Amino acid sequence: MTATILDGKAFAARLRQRIAGDVERLRADGITPGLAVVLVGEDPASAVYVRNKGRQTREVGMKSVEHRLDAGVAQDALLTLIGELNADASIHGILVQLPLPGHIDSAAVLDAIDPAKDVDGFHVLNVGRLATGQKAMVPCTPLGCLMMLRDHHGSLSGMEAVVVGRSNIVGKPMAQLLLGDDCTVTVAHSRTRDLTGVVRRADIVVAAVGRPGMVQGDWIKPGATVIDVGINRVDAGEGKTRLVGDVDFDGAVRVAGAITPVPGGVGPMTIACLLANTLTACCRAHG
Ligand code: GUN
Repeated sequence: MTATILDGKAFAARLRQRIAGDVERLRADGITPGLAVVLVGEDPASAVYVRNKGRQTREVGMKSVEHRLDAGVAQDALLTLIGELNADASIHGILVQLPLPGHIDSAAVLDAIDPAKDVDGFHVLNVGRLATGQKAMVPCTPLGCLMMLRDHHGSLSGMEAVVVGRSNIVGKPMAQLLLGDDCTVTVAHSRTRDLTGVVRRADIVVAAVGRPGMVQGDWIKPGATVIDVGINRVDAGEGKTRLVGDVDFDGAVRVAGAITPVPGGVGPMTIACLLANTLTACCRAHG
């Protein structure tokens, strides 16, 4: 038996199509959703993400604004820019690409964003709202994972979910979302004793640790759903590289009931959810 492949690329394309339709209707009423992305420094991976975000934002008919700041920019200058974007009525979503250079206090920067424009869901107020079950801006990658899980399973109620990884960007909000959908949730991490045994209990495994192939195929309970958030570039020989997830795909696909591939699984959902959050922020701003 091999697992059903959960096609995030196709899912994200359908989501973007729905968003584009909503944007067209808003624009007919004179409202254009706007997203501002702030990139500090020259990190090549971040530059690629930011370029893709800008392109897809324009493709669904939204306004896209990019601010590229020098790696040595003073924190106050970054905070001033965020203040200006907060006050700009044509901007409904603000995203500051992470990681920021070491001399900048990331938490202070994220918390300077108007929570209503915080399309990443990283502002402490949105983190608190999510944790307390209130209406929140939800981080894009875990939101994309939840959409795929709901689409595949319908209800997640009562399922055993194990999230491997405890980052603020993926692991923690993922756990909150699964809890909100009535899963029994375990958050495992690098210090977890008997990680294999914990993962073996899971009906749903979400792997978000950033270590290529760490979750082995024989850790997976037969029939479980595996969501692989990892995007790791590894040596493929002959001077080439390839992308792999945090899950040993070839092993897991023989055991799991359903699995997301890398690439083409969770990755495309992240930007689609960013656009969905920007649309949501715009609709809330315009009542
Ligand atoms: N860096 C890696 N993932 C993300 C993300 O989802 N949002 C932002 N702002 N930066 C990131």
